[in-house]
Amino acid sequence: MKALITAGGHGTRLRPITHTQNKHLIPIANKPILNYALEYVRDAGIKDVGIITNREGSEVKDVYGDGSDLDLYITYIPQEKPSGLADCVKIAQPFIGDEPFVFYLGDNIIVGGIKKFIEEFERNNANCHLVLAKVNDPERFGVPEIKDGRIVRVEEKPRHPKSDFAVTGIYIYDKRIFEAVNGILPSARGELEISDAHQYLINKGYKITFSEITGWWKDTGKPADLLEANRLVLDNIDTSVKGKVDKNSNISGRVIIEKRAEIVNSNVRGPAIIGAGTKIVNSYIGPYTSIDRNCEIINSELEFSIVLDNCLIQNQSIRIEASLFGKDVRIVKANSKPFTNRFIIGDQSLIEVR
Ligand code: DAU
Repeated sequence: MKALITAGGHGTRLRPITHTQNKHLIPIANKPILNYALEYVRDAGIKDVGIITNREGSEVKDVYGDGSDLDLYITYIPQEKPSGLADCVKIAQPFIGDEPFVFYLGDNIIVGGIKKFIEEFERNNANCHLVLAKVNDPERFGVPEIKDGRIVRVEEKPRHPKSDFAVTGIYIYDKRIFEAVNGILPSARGELEISDAHQYLINKGYKITFSEITGWWKDTGKPADLLEANRLVLDNIDTSVKGKVDKNSNISGRVIIEKRAEIVNSNVRGPAIIGAGTKIVNSYIGPYTSIDRNCEIINSELEFSIVLDNCLIQNQSIRIEASLFGKDVRIVKANSKPFTNRFIIGDQSLIEVR
């Protein structure tokens, strides 16, 4: 069995972070989102992985290379433009050949891996196995209609969902899916929709089975989803302290402090992760916070937030919460008159001040 993982698309809902970086490389608990997908397929015993990239594709390739660091063989499949998930499957046909495969959307994170879904697919001798999750907002997803334990219809982002399930971004197919992706037409928004390919399989009478995710699953489409995924992943970490913690600091709960990190006269309350080379000085870092490499947090309080590499947050009098900082961001207090607020902010940023 092979795997096909997506890492292309626009990432528009995660701007401004995605102006300068592919969304699949945004870290969750200091690890790129895409790492989770690659580790799930590897842990399910799959070695041969195709990654769909944007036309340029180099960013993802620069990080993962031939895959050997993860014990995988990676083939990159550039997509001319983001023409839909069924288009991703279509252009991957030469890589996949006739084998069954896992199609995994690289922005999805789940707990517990994917092995059990592959086993279900094989046990049922299915043509297509879908993984469903109960959600509060099914209109954001592909939604199945289920009758007598069978999926009879799948609709993409329906205005009036027929169930409170989302079809998650984990699909297992045999070669019939290529007949489907070649047999459908673009939707009103001009994309080849994966839900239409599933509907094609249903209409042709192919065998579609499904499992339900009972733990958690997250599609990291929006900034709030990233914070939530970060919370869920941090909830499962184990304490590990490789950096330095001085005697005036207090570390409580499960906390990872990576090598060369320094905690000075500060309070870190887990679950939280402090990246390599990061300095926390006279500060409070609260639960569900991930701070990546080489940052400085000085005289400030931060909670339930994600901070990417090389940020400086200094002398903030109000606690920062539910926030997402891209790389190289600086938030400092004005130290000369006039004491004004001054902003130098990229396109499509959001600042909420008191
Ligand atoms: O996450 C589950 C949902 O994913 C499903 O419920 C929907 O049925 C499915 O259409 C998809 O919806 P999204 O709106 O979340 O898809 P999105 O455009 O965010 O793309 C998902 C992944 O595929 C992401 O890794 C980006 C990548 N992608 C997307 C498109 C459209 C590509 O690589 N190429 C593309 O052409």
